[in-house]
Amino acid sequence: MKHSLFWVVVLCATLASTTALAQTTKLPAPNMKRRTLSVMETFQQRKSDRAFSTRSIDRQLLSDLLWCAQGKNREDGKLTTPTCMNWQEIRLYVFDSRGVYLYDPQAHALNQVARGDKRSLVAGKQEWAKEAPISFVLVNDMDKMGFHDERSREMTSVDVGICTQNICLACAAFGLSTVPRASMQREEIQRLLGLSEYQIPVMNNPIGYPAK
Ligand SMILES: Cc1cc2nc3c(=O)[nH]c(=O)nc-3n(C[C@H](O)[C@H](O)[C@H](O)COP(=O)(O)O)c2cc1C
Repeated sequence: MKHSLFWVVVLCATLASTTALAQTTKLPAPNMKRRTLSVMETFQQRKSDRAFSTRSIDRQLLSDLLWCAQGKNREDGKLTTPTCMNWQEIRLYVFDSRGVYLYDPQAHALNQVARGDKRSLVAGKQEWAKEAPISFVLVNDMDKMGFHDERSREMTSVDVGICTQNICLACAAFGLSTVPRASMQREEIQRLLGLSEYQIPVMNNPIGYPAK
């Protein structure tokens, strides 16, 4: 009796955690009227900044950042970031103190894919990076492209670079600190997110308000 009760509890806990992970959060619409720096001022301000305040990023700011990074900007489903052949193969994950979320540009929503604070996996040996309230992790999904050859690898590397720069420029325009980074615990992140060997975490951006 005790034995079967144990398994009922395990089953309930598993079902509860699966339901929680399937959670989708619709983001507020991007604020096209946000007051930001001009294009020229934005380029003037763009720099790598590695010190972050603990002030959190609110939902509207997160929405605007994600939209700039790779949001849908046309009725035909194309994005603020160009991709080779319109593959749209760059997956954007948000890491915060509560979990990890995959951005869905078409629905402008976040789908939770892991629970708990996993920012140390993004920081790796650069411990200061886990002080940022959020980190964006960009994954090159070569399985989505359908090709794994060297030329496709080159093209997806270009795509992720463009997306990273969108993030850097949005941060500069919004008065936020960020730095484009290749360092992170790639294999652990692949394991955590259930990615294949061709779904490769390539770049990340810790993001927060400046420390001073
Ligand atoms: C592809 C790439 C990878 C980078 N990886 C890291 C990194 O892992 N850690 C880090 O602190 N900075 C990283 N950087 C930031 C560079 O060190 C930085 O851009 C460079 O020093 C120039 O400074 P600036 O961005 O302020 O102009 C990376 C930059 C690029 C473009």
